[in-house]
Order: sequence, then C-alpha cells, then structure tokens
Amino acid sequence: MSTETTPIVEINGVSKRFGSFAAVDNVTLSIGQGEFFALLGPSGCGKTTLLRMLAGLELPTEGRLIIDGQDMSGVPANQRPVNMVFQSYAVFPHMSVLDNVGYGLKVSGVQRPEIRERAQEALALVKLGDFGQRMPDQLSGGQRQRVALARALVKRPKVLLLDEPLSALDAKLREQMRLELVNLQETVGITFVIVTHDQDEALSMASRIAVMEAGQVRQLAPPAELYEFPKTRFVADFIGSVNMFEGRVEAVEKDVIRLACPGLERPIEVEQTDTPPVGATAWAALRPEKIEISKEPPSDPTENATPGRIEEITYLGEVSIYHVRVSEALPLVKVAMANVDRVTRRPFTWEDEVYLSWTRQCGVVLDR
Ligand SMILES: Nc1ncnc2c1ncn2[C@@H]1O[C@H](COP(=O)(O)OP(=O)(O)OP(=O)(O)O)[C@@H](O)[C@H]1O
Ligand SMILES: [Mg+2]
Repeated sequence: MSTETTPIVEINGVSKRFGSFAAVDNVTLSIGQGEFFALLGPSGCGKTTLLRMLAGLELPTEGRLIIDGQDMSGVPANQRPVNMVFQSYAVFPHMSVLDNVGYGLKVSGVQRPEIRERAQEALALVKLGDFGQRMPDQLSGGQRQRVALARALVKRPKVLLLDEPLSALDAKLREQMRLELVNLQETVGITFVIVTHDQDEALSMASRIAVMEAGQVRQLAPPAELYEFPKTRFVADFIGSVNMFEGRVEAVEKDVIRLACPGLERPIEVEQTDTPPVGATAWAALRPEKIEISKEPPSDPTENATPGRIEEITYLGEVSIYHVRVSEALPLVKVAMANVDRVTRRPFTWEDEVYLSWTRQCGVVLDR
C-alpha cells in the first residue's frame, strides 16, 4: 500500500480528444507498484476513457503512457501487462465458472492442465473454490462479479484495471466486496486501478485518489488528506458533505486566517499554513461533523461560534443532520451528530435556539 514505490504506471501529458472535445485533458500522474489507486469524479469527467487508454482500447491523442517501464505506444491491448474488469461484468452464460475463468488462457494457447490449475487457483483467491462447475445463472450478483475478477486475475497482469466494479451490486454487498477487494489486492500484490464515482468507495479502499473534473486531475492525495485538506471547492464538495462560507480575507496573523463572511457576526478563524492574501475572496469549508451544537456559547473565546436556530433534522440511522439557520443571508448550516442515544432522547429539537461552535483547526480556507 506504500505510495513511495517505483512507478508501475506513468501517465505523461496524456490527452484524448473526440473531435474538438477533450475527454481527457493533459493528465500527468504516476501510480506506484502495488498501489490501490482510485480515479474518482462525476459522470463524464473522463475516468473510463483514461482507463481504456491504459488498457490499449483507446489511443491517446497526445502524451505518453508507460507501464512497467515500457512505452505503450504501438503495443496492442492483448500484449499489455494489464487486464480490465468492465463495468457490466460480462461472463459467458453458456460456460461453467471454471471455463469462464480459464477462457483467456485457452485463447493464449496455454495447455489444458495448466489452465485448470490456474483457473482453480484464481477462483480460490476470490473465495469461489467450490463453484467451478456451476453455471453463471446459478450465481448471485456478487459471485458473478467475483468470477469476472478471477477471470482478470488468472492471466497474472501487472496492473488490474477495474471500471466501477461494484456498481451493479446492492449497498450491503458493495460494502462487503470493498473489503474483499482490498484483501485480495493485498494477497496478490498486483497494482489495482479502480474507477468509481462513489466517494465512499474510493475513500475506504484506495491508497491514493485522483479526483477528476472535466478531463483533468484536480487533486491527487491519500484519502484522509483529500478529506481534510481539499485544495478547491470542487474537491471539498465532491468528497463528503461540506458547509461553504464565502467571505473576504480580513487578516492573516501567525497562520490564523480571519475571514469576514456576510451574514456572520464574527469573522471565521482558521489556522492554516497556506494562506490567501489579505483582501482576497475566499471560502471556509467546514465538515458537518466538526461543528458542535450547544445550548450555551462555548467557554473558549478563541473558538468560532455563532448563534442559530434548528430548522430541520434529518435522521440517517447512525447520525442525524441538523440544519441550522444562522442568518437569512446564508444557506442552512449542516451539523452531523452521532445518534448515541435513542432518537426520543436526542438533546436538541426543532426550533431550538442554539450555538454552533468549532475550533480554528477545523476546516480549510480555499481561494478557488
Ligand atoms: N467514443 C467517444 N466519442 C465521443 N465522445 C466520447 C467517446 N467516449 C467518451 N466520450 C465522451 O468523453 C467524456 C468522458 O467519458 P468517460 O466515459 O470517460 O466518462 P466517465 O468519467 O467514465 O463517466 P461515467 O462515470 O458516467 O462512466 C464524456 O463526455 C463522453 O461523452
Ligand atoms: Mg465510466
């Protein structure tokens, strides 16, 4: 899971244009040996196109792709040290599970006994060791997905490309398969590049995530860094839920930014080393779970605080989201609170006049 290893995939200034439209626009990044790397972004941002170029199913209009030290220009898909698992995992319905998994080896001319052995081994990896003789229509969705994985693993690629591999599964199964994929990746040690537009999926599985928008990589970082230190409003908003306060930088003193926001009595103070200039327009991005609700103002005067009134409460099971009106000029502020007690005993309810508070170390100030 280390990010500091030798790159297995290097993407250098790669663009893909369809006519005048750039689906992938000058992307440069490298992926380390053994990484679990995620490409994350909204629909149409170019994730699949980038993956298809790595697989050799699409040629870059510009730039260079290097996999395992070898320039991929002119190398056809079937000779690349990669394998791709597609979004709609196609398994052959008329072939047994074992034959499905062994099919790729058969096409490459591997001898029968070896095919059997390797297919069986790949099935064991995805915990379907006893399912070889079944037909695909005798499997659940999750099991079919694992057959598709086994089929990709059996050829022992250096890099496994997975395009939305879990999107067809229901919520419970997805969560289980996330863990299984991570364990599988650790067992086989193959580099995984997974495409998803599900932020939870990326956050829970990946060693690093590239967040894409409009064909470009907006930020590339490990999950916790993306979540805690997004560099732009787009990334802050795309990863998790966020409250955004627009304002003007009033002062910067000892790494504390004071952001004057219309609608708030006091400027928001955020401690941050990378600071925008005084006078600039900027946004304080604050996660709902970092805000506290209390009946009294906080005792620590250095804490950010604002009075407000609870207007809505959304019950989500483990947490509730309180929507708090702090000003007519501002959208409702979202505050997430764990439901430790039963809902009948929750400490705050509609119409309550409360205080919201958060420390200077919570949130970030963004200038774009
Ligand atoms: N063969 C093609 N011809 C023209 N435009 C294309 C082609 N393939 C993809 N595009 C366009 O390129 C953009 C990126 O497509 P891509 O499939 O890479 O998006 P994506 O990020 O995978 O989205 P999704 O999450 O919906 O799968 C889209 O606007 C798409 O319409
Ligand atoms: Mg796609």
